[in-house]
Amino acid sequence: MQAKYPSDSICIMTDLVLPGETNPLNNLFGGELLARMDRAASIAARRHSRRIVVTASVNHVAFNRAIPLGSVVTVEAKISRTFKTSMEVFIDVWIEDRESGIRHKANEAIYTFVAVDETGRPVEVPIIEPQTELEKQRYDAALRRKQLSLVLAGKMNPHEATELKALFL
Ligand SMILES: CC(C)(COP(=O)(O)OP(=O)(O)OC[C@H]1O[C@@H](n2cnc3c(N)ncnc32)[C@H](O)[C@@H]1OP(=O)(O)O)[C@@H](O)C(=O)NCCC(=O)NCCS
Repeated sequence: MQAKYPSDSICIMTDLVLPGETNPLNNLFGGELLARMDRAASIAARRHSRRIVVTASVNHVAFNRAIPLGSVVTVEAKISRTFKTSMEVFIDVWIEDRESGIRHKANEAIYTFVAVDETGRPVEVPIIEPQTELEKQRYDAALRRKQLSLVLAGKMNPHEATELKALFL
């Protein structure tokens, strides 16, 4: 399978925060943001693999900054690393200042998707070649995150998590 670049499958979704999508403080409801991130990440994973994809895990979500009603929110999802059948997707969330148009980073998240066939069985995906410095940093740290996610899900013995162990030795 031919290697692809993260820019080949990037998904950028821009939308408003409407009244039905907020919490009692009039900020974007966390579950709504999770859904927007899931949608953008699944599109990036689908573009990369050209397969049906399913969310295998949500590895990290940081709600660093509240997103007020009426904000223009941009969710940017990019494949950070691929393994055999799984893809790590990094999601950056930006809000746009109404007057200046300047974008501020509000949140980020990391999701894992798996490409599957019509029966739901995992299938191989093309490898990814990071290009920018940030893409390379995220690529390098992805194996560690995968091992942590598998250990926490009870799918990997901590003794086999070599990348994680290397952090503490
Ligand atoms: C995700 C799913 C396809 C994995 O199936 P499985 O039988 O565990 O298959 P495998 O053990 O072969 O794992 C497939 C890949 O997923 C990865 N994976 C599985 N669970 C993971 C987790 N918690 N974190 C990170 N990666 C995970 C495996 O490491 C493997 O990756 P690799 O092939 O790139 O090395 C299966 O669990 C599933 O269909 N889950 C439901 C998905 C769904 O409905 N999502 C919507 C949310 S409700």
